[in-house]
Amino acid sequence: MDLMNIIKGRRSVRSFLDKEVSREHLITILEAGIWAPSGSNIQPWEFILIDDATLIKKIKLLSPGLYGFPKALVILCVNKKKSEKAGRQGESLAVMDISMAAQNMMLMAYSLGLGSCPIASFNKLGLKHLLNISEEVDPVLMISLGYPSEWPSPPARRPLEEVVHLNGYGKHPGR
Ligand SMILES: Cc1cc2nc3c(=O)[nH]c(=O)nc-3n(C[C@H](O)[C@H](O)[C@H](O)COP(=O)(O)O)c2cc1C
Repeated sequence: MDLMNIIKGRRSVRSFLDKEVSREHLITILEAGIWAPSGSNIQPWEFILIDDATLIKKIKLLSPGLYGFPKALVILCVNKKKSEKAGRQGESLAVMDISMAAQNMMLMAYSLGLGSCPIASFNKLGLKHLLNISEEVDPVLMISLGYPSEWPSPPARRPLEEVVHLNGYGKHPGR
C-alpha cells in the first residue's frame, strides 16, 4: 500500500471480530513503535503488551474510553527515570515520543489488516495497580488491536487551506 493510502485509511476501530491476532503481528507492531523518533533519542518509553483475554476484561472495567472487545492492547508508558534525562522539557518530550511511537504502531497495524484505537480515557492508578507498574513508570496511552468487524467511515478533517499558514500566521495558501 502507498503511504498516503495507509495514513488516510487508518481508522479508530471500536468493534472487533472474535479472531486471534498472531503474536508475530503483535511483535511487528511493537517493533514499528521502537523505530519512532525520540527527543535526544532518549526513548523514555515502555510498552506493555496484553493479549490475555481475562486481563483485557479487567482493563475494560478501568477504561471508559475502551470500546469493543479487542484481542490485544498495548499500554504505552513513560519511564520518568529516563525522561528526566532531558531536563525540564523531559515530560513533554516523552509525551511527544510516545505519540509518535503510537502512530507508528497504528499505521503498522493497519498495513497488516488490523484495526486499532488510541485510548487516553482510562484510570491510570487502577491500571498501575492491576499490572504492577513501577512507581517511576506512567501509563499515558493505550492502543487496542484486533481485526475490525467494520471499518468506520472517516471523520471529517479541517480543510488544509484552514489549517496551513504560509510564511506567517493567518496567511493561507491557495491550492
Ligand atoms: C490522544 C488521543 C486520545 C484518544 N482517546 C480515545 C479514547 O479514549 N477512546 C476512543 O474511543 N477514542 C479515542 N481517540 C480516538 C479519536 O476519537 C479519533 O482518533 C478521532 O475521532 C479521529 O478518528 P480516526 O482516528 O478514525 O481518524 C483518541 C485519539 C487520540 C489522538
